[in-house]
Amino acid sequence: MAKMEVKTSLLDNMIGVGDMVLLEPLNEETFINNLKKRFDHNEIYTYIGSVVISVNPYRSLPIYSPEKVEDYRNRNFYELSPHIFALSDEAYRSLRDQDKDQCILITGESGAGKTEASKLVMSYVAAVCGKGAEVNQVKEQLLQSNPVLEAFGNAKTVRNDNSSRFGKYMDIEFDFKGDPLGGVISNYLLEKSRVVKQPRGERNFHVFYQLLSGASEELLNKLTLERDFSRYNYLSLDSAKVNGVDDAANFRTVRNAMQIVGFMDHEAESVLEVVAAVLKLGNIEFKPESRVNGLDESKIKDKNELKEICELTGIDQSVLERAFSFRTVEAKQEKVSTTLNVAQAYYARDALAKNLYSRLFSWLVNRINESIKAQTKVRKKVMGVLDIYGFEIFEDNSFEQFIINYCNEKLQQIFIELTLKEEQEEYIREGIEWTHIDYFNNAIICDLIENNTNGILAMLDEECLRPGTVTDETFLEKLNQVCATHQHFESRMSKSSRFLNDTSLPHSCFRIQHYAGKVLYQVEGFVDKNNDLLYRDLSQAMWKASHALIKSLFPEGNPAKINLKRPPTAGSQFKASVATLMKNLQTKNPNYIRCIKPNDKKAAHIFNEALVCHQIRYLGLLENVRVRRAGYAFRQAYEPCLERYKMLCKQTWPHWKGPARAGVEVLFNELEIPVEEYSFGRSKIFIRNPRTLFKLEDLRKQRLEDLATLIQKIYRGWKCRTHFLLMRKSQIVIAAWYRRYAARKVLRELKHQKRCEEAATTIAAYWHGTQARRELKRLKEEARRKHAVAVIWAYWLGLKVRREYRKFFRANAGKKIYEFTLQRIVQKYFLEMKNKMPSLSPIDKNWPSRPYLFLDSTHKELKRIFHLWRCKKYRDQFTDQQKLIYEEKLEASELFKDKKALYPSSVGQPFQGAYLEINKNPKYKKLKDAIEEKIIIAEVVNKINRANGKSTSRIFLLTNNNLLLADQKSGQIKSEVPLVDVTKVSMSSQNDGFFAIHLKEGSEAASKGDFLFSSDHLIEMATKLYRTTLSQTKQKLSIEISDEFLVQFRQDKVCVKFIQGNQKNGSVPTCKRKNNRLLEVAVP
Ligand SMILES: Nc1ncnc2c1ncn2[C@@H]1O[C@H](COP(=O)(O)OP(=O)(O)OP(=O)(O)O)[C@@H](O)[C@H]1O
Ligand SMILES: [Mg+2]
Repeated sequence: MAKMEVKTSLLDNMIGVGDMVLLEPLNEETFINNLKKRFDHNEIYTYIGSVVISVNPYRSLPIYSPEKVEDYRNRNFYELSPHIFALSDEAYRSLRDQDKDQCILITGESGAGKTEASKLVMSYVAAVCGKGAEVNQVKEQLLQSNPVLEAFGNAKTVRNDNSSRFGKYMDIEFDFKGDPLGGVISNYLLEKSRVVKQPRGERNFHVFYQLLSGASEELLNKLTLERDFSRYNYLSLDSAKVNGVDDAANFRTVRNAMQIVGFMDHEAESVLEVVAAVLKLGNIEFKPESRVNGLDESKIKDKNELKEICELTGIDQSVLERAFSFRTVEAKQEKVSTTLNVAQAYYARDALAKNLYSRLFSWLVNRINESIKAQTKVRKKVMGVLDIYGFEIFEDNSFEQFIINYCNEKLQQIFIELTLKEEQEEYIREGIEWTHIDYFNNAIICDLIENNTNGILAMLDEECLRPGTVTDETFLEKLNQVCATHQHFESRMSKSSRFLNDTSLPHSCFRIQHYAGKVLYQVEGFVDKNNDLLYRDLSQAMWKASHALIKSLFPEGNPAKINLKRPPTAGSQFKASVATLMKNLQTKNPNYIRCIKPNDKKAAHIFNEALVCHQIRYLGLLENVRVRRAGYAFRQAYEPCLERYKMLCKQTWPHWKGPARAGVEVLFNELEIPVEEYSFGRSKIFIRNPRTLFKLEDLRKQRLEDLATLIQKIYRGWKCRTHFLLMRKSQIVIAAWYRRYAARKVLRELKHQKRCEEAATTIAAYWHGTQARRELKRLKEEARRKHAVAVIWAYWLGLKVRREYRKFFRANAGKKIYEFTLQRIVQKYFLEMKNKMPSLSPIDKNWPSRPYLFLDSTHKELKRIFHLWRCKKYRDQFTDQQKLIYEEKLEASELFKDKKALYPSSVGQPFQGAYLEINKNPKYKKLKDAIEEKIIIAEVVNKINRANGKSTSRIFLLTNNNLLLADQKSGQIKSEVPLVDVTKVSMSSQNDGFFAIHLKEGSEAASKGDFLFSSDHLIEMATKLYRTTLSQTKQKLSIEISDEFLVQFRQDKVCVKFIQGNQKNGSVPTCKRKNNRLLEVAVP
């Protein structure tokens, strides 16, 4: 389920005030009381604007759990109660989302909780940044570098059981997504003097105790160490055990961390060997030995320890022994060797131990850097975490404290610069008027220390480099000369020069008034520590070691690389590295955690007001608040402001539609907040007085109560109503279900009843059916039996009769059966024929097929008879006239069928005879009158001219006795031939209408010769001529059908020849006179 977003604010459930800026009234007392109140309620974090004040609780609080990490993740800075996670989140998000490099500056005095804070920041960032195997490995390595460095660089001091004895600045590098890529650690000046000597109640570096407590017997043997701390001079004995610290367990943690960071096994072993060597160095003791020449010499008391060291490090014992006895000074070409007295020998021993250890520490940092460095060359975003040793005031303060406090001085300065700058920039950004506020600027103290011409460090360097006798006293004198007038510098001399007598100031000391308080420094050791000299004989001896790590730690011991130049002094080195650090920090967006130590006892629940007051003063926290409030005490972006207070005004509650700024304006107007109390910036509202904010908060609280009541009321109403509606709905549902159940029950019963009735009917029906079928079966059986009896009886009778009559049948049976059968067949044939008769049309060719072969002749005869009969039937219908026509047609058929090609075309033409209606045409009246007989044919024919074959139209008339030719136009009779004189008619066999009428020789008509005609009705004319002649003369007229015949033209006989002509003249036959004797007719 998605987590519900609840908008909260730092102002919710506040103990005291979460942000000191809201403190009212503001003074030291209220400030401390507020801190105390919060401390007592386990609220160890308090804001001054964006600065986090952290008060060391000296006990573990349940406020760093993974759930807390989730709470603070992606929340606004002021949304939840003050926490170091809020600051870490803000820094990480602005790095990731706004691409701003960040630095987290953690300050405070020793034991205030800086190192813890830096680890909390790192673990928070590790928890919220990207995940994945590679990223996790990088995170692990970064986190695990801490236990390693703490083992070698931290120690128990009177102020802190785990005091950082070196400064550490770590750059964590991220890619553009905010995933960690790696890191770079810079270390600052390890307090190496601790290796050889620790103040009372303090310890050496943790690693020595861890090694002796945690190493296995085997390892101890290998390193020729003994578990007993008291065996070693360098380990302070009175505080070798620290309460609540398990050195043995920590040793295992460190070994494990080394492995995770990437140390190879042999590297880790080498490191422990160097540690063992340092420890054993402390056990080398010297005794004086007077030489004859009066010089003091020293001698190693017990060479066993030396031998073991040499075995461990692979150094020739004699070389090391010599290095502890002599000191060679090389100047230009000269080499001068002097013997060392006991004190010098001890000094040399300690110098070697310190150098060996501090160089090992630097090597460790470099080795870790090698492992954790980012593998890519892409642009990186950087978050720097600075955990530097806190401001220290001891009873005896030496060079180290001076350096440490100088560093803190610088940090305070950068804090002042950056916070004020940021504050000023915000006002400018938001367009708010800004009035300057005075604050203490510690630049003057920094200048006292670091000024290149007359600063204390410069003086120290000058003194160290000066030829002649140089002692700490000469250095103090120099200071007395140069700095005496400086207002932050004090010494016995400078005071007395001002006629002040300050007995609290010993002669060998000077005092500096730091921003955090006055510190008295013992000058003893300043020159030495600044010179940081290691006799060349020793570094050369170390370089000769076969132990690779030790050899690499002393490169200057290589005789081939002798460098006569003095190395830079410790002071100037530190100054330079601090300057680089400051420059680096200035390029980044600063985030401050100011750690406060509540008591000196490292105890929980104790809040020493005086101690806290002192820290508040020197940290300038009150000024910080004042600066922050100089203009406006409280500022907030418009959106969250409107969101928080919108319920105080009708217009803005519950929703404001316009821009947030307008909403806030309306809100403030409505609440009648005096206008001088607030100011509108570009993105934020600035509230001048905390009182105004508290007033708003009170109003909000009241209003929230009202709203809660309202919500409660509505909720209760809603709940009751919902409950009621639910009950009602449930009741309806239950009732419906019950009714349904009851109805179903009734229905079920009815159905059951009906089913029973139906079942009874069905059973009865089946029963009746069975009965009926049984009866039917019985009846059928009875009938079958009766029939069987009848059949059997009939067969029996038949058998009996046949037996009786068999003797009568045998003689005639065959013939009779044959006849009977034949008779039956014929009968059947005729009866069937009756039904299969074809139509009565004479031209119908159909006739049923013959059923039996033996009836073949009968069948044909029957067909013939039937045809004759139907022809007769047909003929009987004719009238006399029709009969005549058919007779004529029959005559024509007999004459021309199959003889003349023209015949078939004439069959369909009815014979009309009188084609020319002479009676009706008045033109032929005369002709009509001249003829008394009946006209059989009246037709126009072509008469062929005998001379040339051309034709002329003539009216051809046939009467009972005569044949007449008349002019077609005038109707005048041209010739008249009595039928008796006509002897023959000739024509071709072809499809033409030419015919010749031959006349009886000697008759009157024959004088002009025979006639040659062509007519369209040749067949009819020839037939009628034939019939008329036959009826008149009782003689058959001869009809010659031939393609060549002779015609009598006057005297000559001309041959008329029919040839198959070409189609040239169309379909009309043409006649041509070829010569005297030949007339050619071309028939197409
Ligand atoms: N937030 C915290 N919760 C619980 N204990 C804490 C917290 N911060 C610090 N302490 C306790 O205070 C002790 C000292 O803290 P820390 O080592 O961080 O101090 P420091 O400021 O680094 O001092 P120094 O300058 O000496 O290194 C820690 O060992 C731890 O016991
Ligand atoms: Mg620390």
